[in-house]
Amino acid sequence: MVMSNAWSIWIIVIVALHIIAYAWLLFSTSKMKAKDHKKGETTGHEWDGIKEYNNPLPKWWLYMFVLTIIFAVVYLVLYPGMGNYKGTLDWTQEKEWAAENEVVKAKKAELFATFINKSIPEMIKPVINEDGSIDNTAMEIGERLFANHCSTCHGSDAGGAIGFPSLIDDDWLYGSKPENILQSIAQGRNGVMPPWGAALGDEGVTQVAAYIRNFTVPGQDQNEVAEGQKKYSMFCIACHGADAKGNQMLGGPNLTDDIWLHSYDDSRLESIIRDGIAAIMPKHKELLDDDSIKVLAAYVYSLQNEQ
Ligand code: HEC
Ligand code: HEC
Repeated sequence: MVMSNAWSIWIIVIVALHIIAYAWLLFSTSKMKAKDHKKGETTGHEWDGIKEYNNPLPKWWLYMFVLTIIFAVVYLVLYPGMGNYKGTLDWTQEKEWAAENEVVKAKKAELFATFINKSIPEMIKPVINEDGSIDNTAMEIGERLFANHCSTCHGSDAGGAIGFPSLIDDDWLYGSKPENILQSIAQGRNGVMPPWGAALGDEGVTQVAAYIRNFTVPGQDQNEVAEGQKKYSMFCIACHGADAKGNQMLGGPNLTDDIWLHSYDDSRLESIIRDGIAAIMPKHKELLDDDSIKVLAAYVYSLQNEQ
């Protein structure tokens, strides 16, 4: 941080005055020589009958103070402390942080080196060591990264919540292949379901809802279902597919299974069709390094392949 010159000078003056004042205080209190000292002389202070003798400071005590003053002066030459003066070592917090960061990175690279070049389907397999012990480092790291970066939205068991997809079922908005998962994490996703109330009208919304509901709750009014199917073919096919089983290119969910991204009670289906809805998976490319994203993708991939 660079201060204005006035502040810089102000700080230099305060620091220098302090050091000079300490040195003077030390000098003036140590003036009394041991040989001038009269035994039994008191300072005149007395508390409850206890008198304070006027004895000189012990030598070692005095030297300790002298050392602290020398330390302060040397420190202020080497390190920043005198206003904007940078110190001869050119030390900064940023450089110290960067150096520590390099150490952490090197340690991490060493740890990741054992698995990071494997393909994702290979990475999820535990390695059996020569001594028979099982090494599952990659997935242990993945689990920790998931807890830190993903569990707030997807749940600590990755089971999802209303508006946040479950990552442990086999229902995928954008696909379950390693490359789909990698892209979801690195680039983020932005699922937008446009509102259809204006295009469909109230009756149309009821009919399309009946058509969709009929997949999971059969026995809906068959006239409504038939009308709804026609309207579905006009307005919804592009994103949810001809058979309503979804479109992973656009993140249009499968509407025929009983897995819902958004909460469903009786009128919620209608309100989503009428008003639209959206959900955002944040882009993690800028938050995490490529290796961590690969380990996370492998971890997510392992969740479906474990079952
Ligand atoms: C701020 C909340 C939030 C965070 C944090 C978050 N996600 Fe997501 N994620 C979402 C939402 C919402 C979606 C669904 C997006 C959509 O509907 O288009 C999603 C979708 C996904 C998908 C696609 C699922 C599918 O069915 O295709 C994957 C994979 C995923 N997230 C993994 C992760 C991982 C791994 C992390 C941690 C690095 C993470 N998410 C962090 C909210 C979040
Ligand atoms: C432009 C593409 C697009 C069109 C067209 C579209 N949808 Fe969607 N729809 C989506 C997306 C994307 C989502 C997921 C929204 C999210 O990620 O939050 C969605 C979500 C839904 C949901 C909620 C699903 C769930 O699991 O909670 C329903 C119901 C739905 N759409 C019905 C329809 C109907 C009915 C039509 C036609 C009238 C339609 N959609 C047209 C893209 C579309």
